[in-house]
Amino acid sequence: MEYRNEFEKDVIQGLRQPQKSLSSKYLYDEKGDSLFQQIMNLEEYYLPECELEILRNQTLEIAKTFPFERFDVVELGAGDGSKTLHFLKQLVEAGKEITYYPMDISEKVLETNQRLVSQAIPNLPICPVHGDYFKTLESIKRLHPKMMLFMGSNIGNYPNSTAVNFLKLVGGYMQPNDLLLVGIDLRKNPNTIVNAYNDNKGITREFNLNLLKRINRELNGTFQLSDFDHYPYYDPIAGIMYSYLVSLKHQSVKIGPETIQFRKHELLHTEVSQKYSLEEIEAMSKQAGFRQVDHFLDSKEHFTISALKK
Ligand code: AVJ
Repeated sequence: MEYRNEFEKDVIQGLRQPQKSLSSKYLYDEKGDSLFQQIMNLEEYYLPECELEILRNQTLEIAKTFPFERFDVVELGAGDGSKTLHFLKQLVEAGKEITYYPMDISEKVLETNQRLVSQAIPNLPICPVHGDYFKTLESIKRLHPKMMLFMGSNIGNYPNSTAVNFLKLVGGYMQPNDLLLVGIDLRKNPNTIVNAYNDNKGITREFNLNLLKRINRELNGTFQLSDFDHYPYYDPIAGIMYSYLVSLKHQSVKIGPETIQFRKHELLHTEVSQKYSLEEIEAMSKQAGFRQVDHFLDSKEHFTISALKK
């Protein structure tokens, strides 16, 4: 069959599998971006606050692991830069001569990033890189010395072995002594994690269901949102937070010319968020070829920014 675009191909193929599944990267259309912004402001969603606390209080400690005065800071999936600017600002105030390379798939987000960061740090040179980082990483390979940033526990979206492959891939664009800073959500009381992905206001539910809305709009889908429920599920042994949508009845849904059947109570998988222990982070880093790891935790020990050295 001929697909109109990658989104259509991924959706149809994902829904034809025995265990139906959609890639979490498609959660982030314009509405999804704005719902995720709301998630980041939720009381229950502790991650951003913890990461920001680390950046506010420990940027100079982190910088001590990196013995250069002039360097480049490359951020993968940079987002709006509202947290990173606290990091950059302290580096600049400490006299470091840096250039900031925010990378993001969304052009709009990159514009916001540049505006926010340059307002906060007027003299900082900023070189935005627009595109999928799997394609744009080549362009920053030669920069050295550099710090690479991958914040927000975005690494949690890569299931198990693919996170190692991701680190290996990024490591391939780094030179000896370059530093990779990864923001990672830690294992903790499972109740805290469950609450973070099942908020009272139902924003996370809306975020998950928005994927069906996007399919309706962009691919001529006929999903009835009221016929699906949001089901977040945490496996504390594996440390994985799963998000599913549940079909509430036997139904068939059209996506353009395609028809997909759902059994009553059939699950559609939409996202994983892996939580790690420090030991797991160290093992994963070694496996990906990094030689040294330092951890910087928030006061509640919910979150780490781990510094991986090539
Ligand atoms: C953006 C991938 C870090 O997994 O915590 C938040 C996305 N999903 N609530 C996460 C998300 C549901 C988030 N990441």
